[in-house]
Amino acid sequence: MECLRGKTSRFLDRDSLLRRVTPYQSVHLDLGTGDGRYVLDRARRDPGSFVIGIDACRENLRRASRRAPDNTLFIIANLLSPPLEPAGIASHISINFPWGSLLSGLLQADPNLLGGLAAMCAPGAEVECYLNAGALAEAGYDPATGAERVRRALNTAGFEVKQTHPMDAAGLRGVPSSWGKRLAYGRDPRAVYLTGDRSERRLDWNLGLLDLSFALAVAADVGHAGGADQRSHDHNHARSSKGDARIDVEERNCQC
Ligand SMILES: C[S@@+](CC[C@H](N)C(=O)[O-])C[C@H]1O[C@@H](n2cnc3c(N)ncnc32)[C@H](O)[C@@H]1O
Repeated sequence: MECLRGKTSRFLDRDSLLRRVTPYQSVHLDLGTGDGRYVLDRARRDPGSFVIGIDACRENLRRASRRAPDNTLFIIANLLSPPLEPAGIASHISINFPWGSLLSGLLQADPNLLGGLAAMCAPGAEVECYLNAGALAEAGYDPATGAERVRRALNTAGFEVKQTHPMDAAGLRGVPSSWGKRLAYGRDPRAVYLTGDRSERRLDWNLGLLDLSFALAVAADVGHAGGADQRSHDHNHARSSKGDARIDVEERNCQC
């Protein structure tokens, strides 16, 4: 998978990723990280945690990764065609104010997105998601209906959503992400916050996932990276042309 540090791009395989994260007590993945503010904030507040931001927008990641501390990594990837190198590593996943294909993937329970989410998690992983009421409205949902669809999608990926809170401007001001601040001081400061975990390793077998057997094998075998790495490389190579085309689309729509 492709990592960025400023203008420098390089390929990181699964072995190298595992070497980077192993010294840390926890691994946090921030999906649709945008300008990476949340990743930088979290990494600075918790030096024992390794924080990875993933986004399809190269420009955003360039800026964020330039000043990134050692316990961070920025990956360019389309989450509808998710990288498999992070399989099984995440103790915490955040999805803050998704829009575009990330939001519609959650609302429509896209099997590739949900398969990727499921595959990235370590047992017991926690999930949190902020949904912007305005973005839900643009997608045709009121906050309660949109949140319920995302709750069901997360459930399909094996998460039990335990809390769903409406958020107002005061709450949004405390979220350390650029879109949290933007919404808090904007015209429609409403959001819904969902939290939950994968306390049981359950999956909805109706997913029809991207190479589900592979993803699960890697997730279950995260400590034994050798074989997984080659399979991951083969897998990514085999689907790279489709994934790249999708990233181009996301990059053209990149606005954060
Ligand atoms: C509204 S911004 C939120 C950014 C950040 N999480 C925040 O709170 O400031 C949504 C982000 O999702 C990213 N995104 C949308 N679809 C995506 C996809 N399919 N794969 C990866 N990132 C995606 C966009 O590039 C954008 O950076």
